[in-house]
Amino acid sequence: MESGGRYVSRRKLLMGNWKMHKTVAEARSFAEALGQRSQRLPEHVDYVVCAPFTALHILPVMLPTKVAVGAQNVYFEAQGAFTGEISPAMLSELKTRYVLVGHSERRQIFGESDEWAARKVQAVSDSGMIPVLCVGEDLSEREAGRTEAVVRGQVRKGLSLLTAQAVAAAVVAYEPVWAIGSGKTPTPAEAQAVIQAIRAEVADAFGSDAAGAVRILYGGSVKPANIGAFVAQPDIDGALVGGASLDAESFAQMAEALAQPGVGGGQNG
Ligand code: PGA
Repeated sequence: MESGGRYVSRRKLLMGNWKMHKTVAEARSFAEALGQRSQRLPEHVDYVVCAPFTALHILPVMLPTKVAVGAQNVYFEAQGAFTGEISPAMLSELKTRYVLVGHSERRQIFGESDEWAARKVQAVSDSGMIPVLCVGEDLSEREAGRTEAVVRGQVRKGLSLLTAQAVAAAVVAYEPVWAIGSGKTPTPAEAQAVIQAIRAEVADAFGSDAAGAVRILYGGSVKPANIGAFVAQPDIDGALVGGASLDAESFAQMAEALAQPGVGGGQNG
């Protein structure tokens, strides 16, 4: 497989992760503000807002039609005695299209393992939604020179229950833990190197077609001023954005940056 997928057209993806922010009223205000800016969201890019569960029911009707709705977590069982959990069917009923799995906050604060990530990824995919497997090294792993090994292991385990066809439709988000919410980022070339390694891992495990099709995002302190440089890299297909996705104007600015010359925007080459 040629790195960067010159012969494969992967649509760019701008994905917001609101984390534990926004009441229903605040989510409604955001949707209205983004609606006023929807002309500024280029058609050849995919947009997603990953909202808290409580706001999911209003967003598909309130957001501009080109912006899809994502959830930030899910449980892998279909139903049963799992107090406090939400099933894939509960999400898809609300027109949720994407589900984040294994975000570093889930892994670090709530103790989620690679095994859980794999089961959640499989449950999301089996329910007809798109899993977004989040991976990334922490600072000590980076300083020990283990970034690629850690990330490749998370990818291999997290995708292990999918078919190659399902992997092709999935999304992986590379988010170095030390870059999340810190204002620090790797250089675009460093992020490209890790994401290229992720694509190579997918190729080893699932073949070159899946590796050429799977979309891989960079995340961690992305904002309007730096998103273009990341997404101009050949293997980086978009961004997963926390803080800078909370404001509709900032979201629109990132959408515009994705459409700049040199960024690609899902066109071949
Ligand atoms: P940040 O968060 O953009 O605020 O760094 C990214 C994420 O955790 O997905």
